[in-house]
Amino acid sequence: MSSRAIRRRTCAVVLAGGSGQRVGLAIPKQLLKIAGKSILEHTLCVFENAPEIDEIIVLMAPGYTAEAEKIVARAGLSKVSRVLPGGATRSETTSLAIRAVSEELGEGEDCNLLFHDAVRPLLSGRVVTECVAALERYEAVDVAIPSSDTIIVTRTHGGDGEFITEVPDRSRLRRGQTPQAFHLSTIRRAYELALADPSFEATDDCSVVLTYLPDVPVHVVMGDEYNMKVTQPVDVFIADKLFQLASTAAPAPAGEDWYRERLTGRTMLVFGGSYGIGADIARLAEQYGATVYALGRSTTGTHVENPADVEDAITKAYTETGRIDYVVNTAGVLRIGRLAETSDETIREATAVNYLAPVNIARASYKYLAESGGQLLLFTSSSYTRGRSEYSLYSSAKAAVVNLTQALAEEWAEDGVRVNCVNPERTATPMRTNAFGQEPEGSLLSSEAVALSSLDVLLSPMTGHVIDVRQQDPTATAAPLSGFERAIASVLSGRETQDI
Ligand code: CTP
Repeated sequence: MSSRAIRRRTCAVVLAGGSGQRVGLAIPKQLLKIAGKSILEHTLCVFENAPEIDEIIVLMAPGYTAEAEKIVARAGLSKVSRVLPGGATRSETTSLAIRAVSEELGEGEDCNLLFHDAVRPLLSGRVVTECVAALERYEAVDVAIPSSDTIIVTRTHGGDGEFITEVPDRSRLRRGQTPQAFHLSTIRRAYELALADPSFEATDDCSVVLTYLPDVPVHVVMGDEYNMKVTQPVDVFIADKLFQLASTAAPAPAGEDWYRERLTGRTMLVFGGSYGIGADIARLAEQYGATVYALGRSTTGTHVENPADVEDAITKAYTETGRIDYVVNTAGVLRIGRLAETSDETIREATAVNYLAPVNIARASYKYLAESGGQLLLFTSSSYTRGRSEYSLYSSAKAAVVNLTQALAEEWAEDGVRVNCVNPERTATPMRTNAFGQEPEGSLLSSEAVALSSLDVLLSPMTGHVIDVRQQDPTATAAPLSGFERAIASVLSGRETQDI
C-alpha cells in the first residue's frame, strides 16, 4: 500500500483569534484586505488548495466569527468545517482547537494537526506538503528559516536601557514560522501538562512540546523567506507588494464536454482575434459552441485604439445575441527601441493599443458583463514585473494592464464581474516572429496552448489574478513553483531581454 493510501486524516487549524494591536487597526489584522481578499481568506485558500489537507478549522477573534463565516461562504471554501471563537492568548486558542478536534474523534483515534497563524498568508503548498510528509516519521514538526541577522540577547539595566548579555552563534539560529504540525495525541498531552503548570507561558506550540515532552524530537522543515507574519504596520506594506508580484498557475484543463456545456449559448468577443493567440481563443470557443466575434484590423476593420470601433463591436454583438459573457483582448504592438529615439507617433500608437485600448474595452464592456456575470480577460507579459531597457513603452503598458486588472476586479466584484490577466511565457505568435525572427523549435509555447489556458481562466471563478502560462517541462519532478517563486524567478531573470 502506498503511504498516501494509509495517510491519516489531516486537519489545518487556522489561528485567527488575535486582535493585531501592533498593526493598530480598528479591526483584527486578519480581516484586512490585501490584493482584493482578506488576509484570512488568502491563508484559508492555501489549505483549501492543498491536497494533503482534509479539513480546516478556523479559530476566530471573538466577536468576528460571523465575519469569518461570511468569508468562508462567499469564497466557497468547502474544507472549512467550523469557525469557533478563539481564546485570550494564542496558547488558549490552540488548546480550544485541540479540545474541539478531540471531541469529534472516536476513542483512541488520532489525526494530524497543522497549526498556522492566520496572518501568514504567503504560506507555500510546498511547506504544507513537507510538514504532512514529516508527520509520517515524527510526532512534532516545526517550520523555520535561517536567520540573516545576528541575534543578540539583552538585559535591561535600571534606567540605563538595554545591554548585550550574549551573542548566540548565528549558524545555529533559526527563525520559527508556522505551520507547526503534530500528532493530535502528542500536542494534547503536552498541553495537558502545560495547563497544569501555573508558570506556563508560550508564544508557539513547538516550545510546549519541547518543555513538557522533552523526549519527543521536534523535526524542522525549511520554511520560506516570504512566509512572513503580518505583525507590524510595515508588514502590511511588504505583504501587499508581494501579492502584487504573485501570479497564479492556470487552472487544469478539463474534458471537451465540460467546455461545451459551459460555452454553448454564450457570447464572446475577442479583440485582436484575427491572428495569434486571439484567433486561437476564438476558434476554440466557437468549436465548443460559443458565438464568437473575432475582431481585428485586417478582418473586421476594428481598431482597438478607436473607442467608437470598440463600442460598435460590442453593441453589434449584444444586439445580435442578447448577451455578452466574455470579452478578451489580445491586441498588442511591440515597439522596441530607446525611448529618447522614439517618435511621437510610435509613443502614441504603442500607448493607445497596449494601454488605452484595454481601458476603453473594459469601460465599454462593463454593463454587459454585469448583466451576464461575465469576465474580462486581458493579456500582459513577463516584463510587467520589471521594466527592461529598450522595452520601456511595452513593459510599462503591460505593468499598467496588471494594475488595471487588479483595480477592476475589486471595483466590479460586487457586480459579479471577474477580471483576470494572462501572462504567457514566450509564445509562437506573428508579433513575436516579427520582432525576433524564427526561433528554435520547442523554445516557444504554442499559441493554442495559451488559448486553451485562457479558456480555463474564462470558465473559472477566479478574479483579480495574473495567470502564468508556461511550458510544461516533462523532465521536471519538483513541485510546481508558487506564484511568489515564479515572481522572484522572473525578477532574477529580468535581464533576458527576449523574455518579453
Ligand atoms: N492568535 C490567536 N489567538 C490569540 C492571539 C493570537 O489565534 N488570542 C493568532 C493571531 O490571530 C495570529 C497568530 O496567532 O494569526 C499570531 O499572533 P500575533 O500576530 O503575534 O498576535 P495578535 O494578537 O494577532 O497581534 P498583536 O500581538 O499585535 O496584538
